[in-house]
Amino acid sequence: MKLNDDDRDILAGSKGAGSRRAMQILISLANIFEARELIPIESAQIAGVSYLNIGDAGLEFLTDWADQEARVRVPSFMNPAGIDRSLWRKMGIPEEFAQKQMKIITTLCRMGVEDTLTCTPYHIDRVPKMGEHLAWSESSAVSYANSVLGARTNREGGPSALASAIIGKTPAYGLHLTKNRLATHRLHVECNIETAADFNLLGYTIGKNIGDAIPLIDGIDIDMNSWYTTLCLKAFGAAMAASGSIALYHISGVTPEAKRAADDIVKEDAVEIIIGDLDDARRSLEQHTTRLQLVTLGCPHSSFDELFYISNLLKDVTLKIPLWITTSAHVYRKAKEDGIIADIEASGALVIVDTCMVVAPLEYLGYSYIAVDSAKAACYLPSHQHAITYFGSTEQCIKSAKEGRWIN
Ligand code: F3S
Repeated sequence: MKLNDDDRDILAGSKGAGSRRAMQILISLANIFEARELIPIESAQIAGVSYLNIGDAGLEFLTDWADQEARVRVPSFMNPAGIDRSLWRKMGIPEEFAQKQMKIITTLCRMGVEDTLTCTPYHIDRVPKMGEHLAWSESSAVSYANSVLGARTNREGGPSALASAIIGKTPAYGLHLTKNRLATHRLHVECNIETAADFNLLGYTIGKNIGDAIPLIDGIDIDMNSWYTTLCLKAFGAAMAASGSIALYHISGVTPEAKRAADDIVKEDAVEIIIGDLDDARRSLEQHTTRLQLVTLGCPHSSFDELFYISNLLKDVTLKIPLWITTSAHVYRKAKEDGIIADIEASGALVIVDTCMVVAPLEYLGYSYIAVDSAKAACYLPSHQHAITYFGSTEQCIKSAKEGRWIN
């Protein structure tokens, strides 16, 4: 692999042990994936922030790296942590967990990573542009950046995203290369896809069917300028990345790289699949009980418009069981200024920042029956939180929180 003089100096230790370690990680990755060069990135997004996921070993690893004077060179963002830094006591999170979590956040801050603590960094003003190279690691954000924004990122692990942030570069392989962004499958959707719940179920179906491939999807007609489309597409990509591990999808005539003729963006030997209904996905996510302890919305983290939409659904509603809506602190601040948070909280619901239902220690809080409006969360909650999980529309989730049991 080609290294320039600057890269070689870093490898020799000119910028300290932390940068050398980062360069070694990138070179190892480049060798595994046969990358020929390192290319500059515009930003990095670092997963593996929650103490629930990385534990003491992860904290020690980060502390060691930060002690080696490793500092990021490009704008770098943190994925959600295991606590809301203001509300953790109210949420019932144990002191020891919160202290360890704070140490992870302050260690990453010491390295220059911004404490955005969100999986939707594209909702915080610095939206990646088409063709920009990134090193992002949260799977739903990777899908959104690649597919909806036309930026280019592989699905990084936490350490490789951090190494890229420190060097300001990533190895040129995988989805950074045009030839690897062609669709491997053509999916013809023959059922109506209109609501966010439909998009969740379709994403779940596609991920289950094609694993880590790249689909070109036709049969979906949407207006890219609507906030509701943004909601649908981020949920769609998140579901595909969770039930499979799809990091890039194209929708014919809609997503930026699929505005060209289909033959230009599909591999010659692409597999054709027809999706006639969403019944299998519905059946897989169905539960045959109604007991409910918690309803959570906001996976991926809610945008300002989504919070406004939810606030309207909660008008004059009184809840029988807790309802959490997760978002970033950035979006929360804007929504608070506009009175949206007060409107939501008038119903008894809680708007939570910095964390989410999958990476907060819900199991310790005693929540084992949880409803969500996200197929991604429905995929992960049973394994990550050992929870009986209900999936439904946002409206169905709110209705269930009002009734105190799952409403089919
Ligand atoms: Fe985000 Fe947590 Fe869902 S990190 S995508 S809200 S599982």
